[in-house]
Amino acid sequence: MQINPYLFILPRTPGQIVWNYKDHTQHELDLDYSSRLAQLIHNPELYDNDNIIDTQLLNAGILTTSTINSPAWGWDELSKIYHIGTRNIPCEHIPKNIHEWARQYLEHCNEVLASSAPAHDMADRITGGRIALPSPSAPKDDSLSNALIRRKTCRSFTGSPIRLRDVGSLLYLTLGYLREREDDCDDSIAEGLDVRRSSPSGGGLNACEGYLLIQNVEDLAPGVYAYHPAEHALSLINRSPDTALGNLLGGQHFINNLPLGLFITARFDRLWWKYPHSRAYRMAFVEAGHLSQTFQLAATALGMNTWLTGAFTDDQIDTLLQLENGNEQPLFFVGCGESDGQAMCQEMRDLLRGTPA
Ligand SMILES: Cc1cc2nc3c(=O)[nH]c(=O)nc-3n(C[C@H](O)[C@H](O)[C@H](O)COP(=O)(O)O)c2cc1C
Repeated sequence: MQINPYLFILPRTPGQIVWNYKDHTQHELDLDYSSRLAQLIHNPELYDNDNIIDTQLLNAGILTTSTINSPAWGWDELSKIYHIGTRNIPCEHIPKNIHEWARQYLEHCNEVLASSAPAHDMADRITGGRIALPSPSAPKDDSLSNALIRRKTCRSFTGSPIRLRDVGSLLYLTLGYLREREDDCDDSIAEGLDVRRSSPSGGGLNACEGYLLIQNVEDLAPGVYAYHPAEHALSLINRSPDTALGNLLGGQHFINNLPLGLFITARFDRLWWKYPHSRAYRMAFVEAGHLSQTFQLAATALGMNTWLTGAFTDDQIDTLLQLENGNEQPLFFVGCGESDGQAMCQEMRDLLRGTPA
């Protein structure tokens, strides 16, 4: 008999909450159950099949007869609980198609809007005088300003193919190790940490990696590809998923025809190597955010529109990207393609207008 390794216990007078953070289940134990669990934690061999508390603890998965191996983890328990506890969130009903998605999302928005949003209270909180700033006057031909102003999240793509040349530019500008920066490093930079991307990287580790999901790119077969930032090259690592993209991304079927998507992952083992404190866990997400924004600006500058999400079931994406040992984890997804520029898909617009979808 063993204690399930994915538990933490919260004191909540008069009982204890035993939380299985992997299976997302909680059990409230009274004093008898808590005391018995304490005995079993001390010595699992005391398990007694004739003791009803023991059998209930076993049935609840708090005790287990099978050996459950904990994955490698280089930070403390706090970040491990948070990380595993936010993976594979059970969803009662994942929309199977765009109409289901539109109805479910509208219902959710209506529930949220039933209570008023927390105020943006900066103006009330900081009452001191204001220093007026000059009006923004970016020159019209400034491509960065244009990309910043034109970037928007679109949920209605045409599905038209993307040119391979544009994919090359997009990946190089987002994730590539910049050849233009090769000579721009000084002696203080340790060997192996001297490559540079267009986005900053925590500790210069470039812990984030990118995997392309290709659905419609000219001269590139659909499938899943790993991007090699030093070689500026792709490797095919898996065939296309055998399900619609929306099924992998939280039921958001409006992006089923997105021609290209990028999964941004983080090599936690690289971060563990340099930064032993779990605060570095936050940095992985910040770095992914930088890359996501750079991708969106580059895609916008190339004349495309973009969409992004963190809504996926981690295990499914691990399998798709062939990430096997937990050292590398998917964090975010960003995609691009030709769009009619609408922030919302037609099905949702119809629903809002009362037209039957
Ligand atoms: C961290 C993050 C997660 C997001 N997740 C989703 C998502 O799952 N689905 C979606 O349609 N949009 C998603 N968005 C896009 C936002 O809804 C969008 O940025 C917001 O409505 C503002 O619109 P804009 O991007 O056009 O300025 C996400 C944005 C961020 C930054």
